[in-house]
Amino acid sequence: MIMRIDKLLCEMNIGSRSQVKTLIKKGLVSVNGSKVTKADMQVNGEGDLISCEGKEYQYRPYVYYMMNKPAGIITATKDIRERTVWDLFCEQLAEKNNGDLKGIPMRDIFPVGRLDKDTVGLLVLTNDGDMAHQLLAPGSHVPKKYYVKTDRPLDRAGERLLREGVDIGEKTLTRPAGLTYAGEEEGYYLTITEGKFHQVKRMFQAAGVQVVYLKRVSMGGLMLDECLREGQIRELTKEEVCALCSKK
Ligand code: URA
Repeated sequence: MIMRIDKLLCEMNIGSRSQVKTLIKKGLVSVNGSKVTKADMQVNGEGDLISCEGKEYQYRPYVYYMMNKPAGIITATKDIRERTVWDLFCEQLAEKNNGDLKGIPMRDIFPVGRLDKDTVGLLVLTNDGDMAHQLLAPGSHVPKKYYVKTDRPLDRAGERLLREGVDIGEKTLTRPAGLTYAGEEEGYYLTITEGKFHQVKRMFQAAGVQVVYLKRVSMGGLMLDECLREGQIRELTKEEVCALCSKK
């Protein structure tokens, strides 16, 4: 990927455009061992070795993280009243990197889809807009699996509704969903291939019961890492990024 060195350094979170220009002027930036003299120098983001103030950086255009979202925060990047997943994400990144976020791309990262404030579990954050679009487009039918606890057991008719399609007040019935027992009373796994507002809660409500706990456990072929405690984040492996886009 050929791009200007000042743009690349900004994307790598080395500093603002003007801070980066100052670093270049001071002769503190080099590419493949040669000092950079001009801010508009073209570099190969993926192949060239970039160093700044003696530290080497590997450019990455896209980053992918999973968060085990806790309850009590909203899926947004900004809010004047509520704590957001973006606030938590930034805190977690800072903690993981001992407060030094230079070289960690942070621009344009956003949550892929949304979980309600009281929903916990798998949330992907990325700056890869194309991939997010692919995952969220209504026609893509990426499966999302949830662990659901309800206030009482579903009856046979309710189970059938969830499996075959239920009226939640939209133009059409929900698409057929996968419903299995989680091996405990009032505990279920539900796999849906759409993402309407409060969809899981509305589906269970239409089937006659209330959701009292909701956790997303997978999206596409990507499973929530159960070693990740609520509130923690980690980067996805290459295999997990591929799995995310698969419809397993
Ligand atoms: N369905 C819901 O009802 N809530 C969520 O957070 C996700 C899916």
